[in-house]
Amino acid sequence: MGGGDDGAQAGAVRLRPLLREDAARIHEWASQPTACRFQPWGPNSPAETEVFVDGAVAAWEQGPQMRWVWAAAAADTVVGIGEVQRKEVDAAEISYAVHIDLWGRGIATCIGRLLVAWALENLDVGRITATCDPRNVASEHVLRGLGMQLERTESHSLMLRDGWRDSYVFSLARREWSARMEE
Ligand SMILES: CC(C)(COP(=O)(O)OP(=O)(O)OC[C@H]1O[C@@H](n2cnc3c(N)ncnc32)[C@H](O)[C@@H]1OP(=O)(O)O)[C@@H](O)C(=O)NCCC(=O)NCCS
Repeated sequence: MGGGDDGAQAGAVRLRPLLREDAARIHEWASQPTACRFQPWGPNSPAETEVFVDGAVAAWEQGPQMRWVWAAAAADTVVGIGEVQRKEVDAAEISYAVHIDLWGRGIATCIGRLLVAWALENLDVGRITATCDPRNVASEHVLRGLGMQLERTESHSLMLRDGWRDSYVFSLARREWSARMEE
């Protein structure tokens, strides 16, 4: 699992850097209200999805690199995306989304495992963090399934289309992940 800057894989899902040609596929879910229900963005217009993809692709060329956005692919079909962002000196934040037609098949859990493994193998950080809307039960399950612990709840942390949302902040220490890998 994991390894290298150019890709990682777990089971049938592998990560590879996002490409401009992935925009149309990503737009299939980024344009849908259900997929961005708990997000501050969307539903996207095609132009908004292009802006997101352009920024994600450009981040691979920036130095020092602070943001790594991956396409999650299964048998050469993009099934979702995953992102690692370096926001604090000692921590990297993960986030993910799965194509709306493919929810409930364990894909986000696969992506999450790959992101955590990649970040801990390739970045000098002691902690992985993630946030989710408390109403986003599926994402909370993904994070708990990765062994992440709920650290705190931030009130009114993000403005959504229907008002402020709270955020759960989860974290996982490097030593906890290593212990899980040895089980
Ligand atoms: C959140 C999201 C990534 C989950 O993707 P997924 O591939 O369907 O998730 P998985 O199939 O790996 O399921 C993970 C867990 O959530 C549970 N789950 C899935 N949908 C659920 C729902 N609607 N209600 C309750 N639990 C749910 C699964 O049973 C599983 O739990 P388990 O591991 O304890 O059995 C997906 O819904 C999505 O892309 N949402 C939009 C973007 C988003 O919210 N990203 C997260 C940002 S914080």
